Amino acid sequence: MFPLDFPLQQMTKYSDARRVLDPFCGRGTTLYAARLAGRSAVGIDVNPVAGAIAQAKLARVGPSSVVRLARDLIREYGDASVPKGDFWDWAFHDQTLRELAALREGLLRWQDTATSVMLRALILGVLHGPRNKGLPSYLSNQMPRTYASKPAYAVRFWRERDLRPVHIDPVEVVARRAERMLRNLPPRTGGRVLLGDAATTVARLRRRFDLVVTSPPYYGMRTYVPDQWLRNWFLGGPPNVPYGTEGQLATKRSQAAFVSAMAEVWRAVAERCSPGAHLVVRFGALPSAGVSPEKMLLASLTEAGAGWLVRDVRPAGAAIGSRRQAEQFNRKQRMGPAVGDIDVTAELIRRQRVGNSATSRRG
Ligand SMILES: C[S@@+](CC[C@H](N)C(=O)[O-])C[C@H]1O[C@@H](n2cnc3c(N)ncnc32)[C@H](O)[C@@H]1O
Repeated sequence: MFPLDFPLQQMTKYSDARRVLDPFCGRGTTLYAARLAGRSAVGIDVNPVAGAIAQAKLARVGPSSVVRLARDLIREYGDASVPKGDFWDWAFHDQTLRELAALREGLLRWQDTATSVMLRALILGVLHGPRNKGLPSYLSNQMPRTYASKPAYAVRFWRERDLRPVHIDPVEVVARRAERMLRNLPPRTGGRVLLGDAATTVARLRRRFDLVVTSPPYYGMRTYVPDQWLRNWFLGGPPNVPYGTEGQLATKRSQAAFVSAMAEVWRAVAERCSPGAHLVVRFGALPSAGVSPEKMLLASLTEAGAGWLVRDVRPAGAAIGSRRQAEQFNRKQRMGPAVGDIDVTAELIRRQRVGNSATSRRG
């Protein structure tokens, strides 16, 4: 995820932009920033977990209706089938698991409403995480919050420490989180989240956009899907780790194939943008990939040949217009892991025929 500040800065900088697009929307940070700034926004992601969380960033609903729906679903779908096996015996207390299975079944059958979208996202947020001392914040036995442990490793970890799962009431955990997160939601500003591949889905959009703020998967990062296997199960996926990375840009292993795949997205996006639209991209690579994210991203804009004129290139997180911060960031970067993330801004000057190269100018 990029920090909320990043898309918020773009909303301030491009204050005339009315319609915002994020073709790799992840958990919907851009969509939420657009909402805070009073703009409508469309997000696309190929990963159902990201899509489900992003959808909630556009919804507005109070805590009581979410809690009521959770109670109703647990009552109504109490006989939903429960996954079996060592992992499931250790990961959740059996009553918690039965209630979770009921919520899963109910939400799979329920049509999407603001309440069900919000409940689904809240459960994804509390599904697994560390066991804390006071009131529980997560439903699972001890586990990381950001990614789900692989079953064999997790079972060994719990067994060795004799860490038995305790009963945690999903409704209570959701209620506490809903109370905190839903009390002061900003007004809705319109927009939606579409599940699918960025290039093909953008091509199907009808309306035009004037600001695109996005972050493609970092080069070399191939674990977006397996890391989220438990959340993926809750959304109707299998009760085990899906090692395929279907549709993920990350499956493009060579740099050239990855650059071409990004180029295809920038080309499709240009088709759906008004002349003068701005494209702001944060991109990076895993250190182990040993590549230059800057070169890759600029090459993809050139290869797109779609009229994106590069206006600015700077290290990720350097505040727009602040040289000093950029320098400080550079110093930090040198000390920290050399990922070399960058922020690139481009402007849609004119559409060119595919194959022509985009003019590029560093800011
Ligand atoms: C760096 S993350 C975006 C994070 C986002 N900015 C946020 O704040 O949550 C990249 C996202 O691209 C998605 N992705 C990968 N390949 C894709 C594709 N072909 N089409 C659409 N989304 C894709 C991944 O699922 C992932 O959620």
